[in-house]
Amino acid sequence: MPGLRAAEGRVHRLAGVLGEAQQVRMAAGVAAAQAGMAAAATARPAVLRQSGAVLAMTTGFDTTVPNMARVYNYWLGGKDHFAADRAEAMRLVERYPPLPAMVRENRAFLIQAAGWAARQGIGQFVDLGAGLPASPAVHQAARAVLPAARVAYVDTDPVVLAHVRALLATGDGVTAIDADLRDPAAVLGHEDLRAVIDPARPVCVILGAVLHFVDPDAACAVTAGYVSLMAPGSCLVLSCARFDDEELAKQLAEEYTAATWYNHSPADIVGFFDGLELAGPGVTEARTWPKRSPEVDDRNGHVLAGVGRVLGR
Ligand SMILES: C[S@@+](CC[C@H](N)C(=O)[O-])C[C@H]1O[C@@H](n2cnc3c(N)ncnc32)[C@H](O)[C@@H]1O
Repeated sequence: MPGLRAAEGRVHRLAGVLGEAQQVRMAAGVAAAQAGMAAAATARPAVLRQSGAVLAMTTGFDTTVPNMARVYNYWLGGKDHFAADRAEAMRLVERYPPLPAMVRENRAFLIQAAGWAARQGIGQFVDLGAGLPASPAVHQAARAVLPAARVAYVDTDPVVLAHVRALLATGDGVTAIDADLRDPAAVLGHEDLRAVIDPARPVCVILGAVLHFVDPDAACAVTAGYVSLMAPGSCLVLSCARFDDEELAKQLAEEYTAATWYNHSPADIVGFFDGLELAGPGVTEARTWPKRSPEVDDRNGHVLAGVGRVLGR
């Protein structure tokens, strides 16, 4: 992949990944989630903009408009989507068939990285742009290592928040926060987040498949903002979709109506880790993290991923 090789030195490839994360809908709490969806249906439309780009269009609960979280849920093999989401997802898959595989690889990476962070002794997790519940969830991966791990799921989509509250934030130490990930100080200072997360202690901040909805400069500002607020010993887990073929990327971005999507360059993605020490292989293919991937990769679409550590200041 020429673009990735261009950023060599800090961008590496690996081989080997945990088994594919299986998307299942948890039975318990489904009724509560449905009640939450009904409440969300009355939510006022909101459009979040930064640097002139639409990051997320949170349209309350309009089933006729493709929704970022639900399109992703469809690709992941979940059940939380409607005809408009499926139509958009399938149109995009026609254009680029490996998209569902990329989404599964992304989830597998996030779960593996959360477990890795827990094994470093990090017991607090902030999952930014958490999305609709998937199994295993971040708190399950973390608690498999550290049973007392605490997790804040952050999103702006009222339907996502309703599902997360009903299905994931059902016990002590797991919460759902309605906050815009582009405002690190507001997120980490949120009263409800502070009930479970102490940013003065090491925390694992996760930006899974969300920064490609933010333009490169704003994305750099977002990660720098979190890094400046994270205690030494913390880590940043990050993944972005990336296509080698800019023409294909342009076509996919045009056909994806749920949000504005940016084909960040490998160098840009490496830059999101500025000020951090990259763990293991550095920025690499999500599907092979934390091992080096083969030198030759004939796939055009990649999920580039990495884990950065905050060193002592
Ligand atoms: C593609 S899903 C990713 C889900 C999950 N992070 C993963 O990688 O499996 C993106 C999620 O980010 C949320 N999102 C988009 N913009 C956001 C913002 N500005 N603040 C918080 N959440 C946002 C969407 O609502 C959606 O649930």
